[in-house]
This record gives sequence, structure tokens and C-alpha cells, in this order.
Amino acid sequence: MEIVVSGIRPTGYLHLGNYFGAIQNFLKMQDENNCFFFIADYHSLTTHPTPADLHGNVKQVLVEYLASGIDPEKVTLYIQSDLPETAELYLLLNMNAYMGELERVTTFKEKARKQPDNINAGLLTYPCLMAADIIIHKAHKVPVGKDQEQHLEMTRTFARRFNRMYNVELFPEPQAFNFGQELIKIPGLDGSGKMGKSEGEGNAIFLAEEPKSIRKKVMRAVTDTGPTSPNSPKSEPVENLFSLLRIVSTPDTVQYFEDQYNSMQIRYGDLKKQLAEDIISFTAPLRERIIEISADDAYLSKVVKIGADKARESAAKTVKDAREIIGFRKF
Ligand code: TYM
Repeated sequence: MEIVVSGIRPTGYLHLGNYFGAIQNFLKMQDENNCFFFIADYHSLTTHPTPADLHGNVKQVLVEYLASGIDPEKVTLYIQSDLPETAELYLLLNMNAYMGELERVTTFKEKARKQPDNINAGLLTYPCLMAADIIIHKAHKVPVGKDQEQHLEMTRTFARRFNRMYNVELFPEPQAFNFGQELIKIPGLDGSGKMGKSEGEGNAIFLAEEPKSIRKKVMRAVTDTGPTSPNSPKSEPVENLFSLLRIVSTPDTVQYFEDQYNSMQIRYGDLKKQLAEDIISFTAPLRERIIEISADDAYLSKVVKIGADKARESAAKTVKDAREIIGFRKF
């Protein structure tokens, strides 16, 4: 059985990018694989959340995992900081990771630009922590969005380096994974780039968002002045809206708006109305379950406890082996 590992940083509400880039794959994998899905709360410390925000955000992601259909009886669902073994493996990997390669990581460079007053060592060694998360369970597959591709490359580098240094086969080389073959990037509503929480107000649609707010955001999405000739290529903002439509709407609806665009009859207002309603139909049942599960603290604490126990069993064995290989041996 293949081992699958993935995580999400608790930074607030999950958005459609998280859902279609990651969670949808988790759901497809949970029946047939040995899955470990976690909440990457150590990772979120790189942006210095307050203790209250940190705790609230961890709960939110936990609730949203469950509301999406992640089944804690089928998978190991846990909180990263409940697994201190991760921190130990991270320390060990740090010793074999080099400044040059860490400084070249795109997400590090982006973060350093975004938070120039807080370029902490955790940001630099983020790929080591992520590699520790993954190889601690000896994962084969890691379902993630396109933005995580480089981190997976680093993970393979660190796994390979460890094996080679000690002449062992302890860690498999894990692959980033999406069921649709290619890793995906869900666009945001601001006309460029990807859907993301830190990309600014109005760019992301959250799973827990109220219909009124979804309509408002979608109606404000960036477009252009319209097609200039029949069958003309679409501008990036308009292509983004079509990408979202392809995800939440029926093929007939997509075809209808494609035809309207190609014959230059399209009214972006109509497309946005349809897109908003289809997003609402998709998120409404999720939103209901989020509210319901959020109120059940007894259930949540049971899930977290069972997850931590199962995760530690798997992690403790790997760390024990790594320690022995490195030369930490009993007298
Ligand atoms: P994070 O928390 O930023 O995002 C969680 C998951 O959502 C995906 N994602 C997207 N996919 C497609 N389009 C988008 N617009 C979009 N936005 C987010 C991300 O690719 C990711 O799969 N470093 C990770 C968390 C992490 C992790 C791990 C993942 C820590 N340790 C080990 C896998 C394995 C991160 O910051 O993802």
C-alpha cells in the first residue's frame, strides 16, 4: 500500500485553491492508501501568529478537513505539533542542508520580499521542515498544488542525500501528486496569479464563506473590455474566470459561455452571476457541515488524540532508525 502524506498551514479559512489543489486529492486517496494528513502549525509560526489566532486557525483547518469528508477512521489526521519527532528529524535534516540551496527557493525569496522585517531562520529552513513532515512517514506520494512543486524537489534532494551519506535506503523519494496528472494552480479573482489568502482582499473564496459575500467578490472580479474579434485568445483575468467555471460548473454551462465569448456576445456580468451561483451550490453543504462540526468540541478532541497516537507510532520508528544510522547508539 502506498504511503501518502500532506498538510495545510493553518492561516485562517481554507479557500477554493486549497480545496481543489489539495483536499480533493486527499478525498480520492483516502480509501486506497495509507494516508497521513496533518495541520502544519509549526510551519505557520514563520509569520508570528498570536497564540489565540494560532489555536483558532488550527481548529478551523481541522473542522474544514472533516467537513470536506476526510475520514479520521480511514486516514491518520493529526496536528503537526503533536508530533515532536518531526522537530527532531527537522534538526537532523538541517545539518545536511546548505545555505545556497535554501536561499534559492522561490517561496523563500517571495516571503523575504513580503515580510522584510521578519526574515527568520524558520523561513529559510522551511523546506527542511516540510521534508521532515513527508519522509518521517516514508511517503511515496504527496498531493499538493503546483506552488509546492519546488518544495517536493528539495524533499527528494534531502532524502537522497541522507541515503547516500549513510549508504542506506531509509527514505523513498516522494513525488508531488495530482489525480489529473498535472499539478494545478487555482487562479484568484484579482486578475493575476493564484488564489491565496495573502494575495489581498477579494482574491480568494473561502469554503465557509456566506453566499452574499461570494456574490459580492465574484461580481467584483477583474475582467477586460471584452473580446475584440471572434475566437480571440482570452486575457489572463478572463481566462481565470473560465478556469473557475470549469471547476464548479457543468460542461454545458462552460460551453455556453465559451460560445458566447467566441461569438463576441458575452456579457461578463452574466458569466459572473452563473459562476457565483455555482460556487455557492458547491460550498453551501460544506459550509453547513463546518458550522455543525465546529460546535462539537468533544468529537474534535477525540479525533486529535487518536490522530496523534497513530502518527507518533509511524514517526517514532523512522526517527529511531535515523538516529541509529547517524550513530546515536545505545551504550
Ligand atoms: P499551504 O498551506 O499554503 O496550502 C495548502 C495546500 O493548498 C494548495 N494550494 C493551492 N493549490 C492550487 N491552487 C491554489 N491557488 C492553491 N493555494 C494553495 C497548496 O499547494 C497546498 O497543497 N508548505 C505547505 C504545507 C505543508 C505541506 C507539508 C504540504 C507543510 N508540510 C508536507 C505537503 C506535505 C503549504 O504552505 O501549503
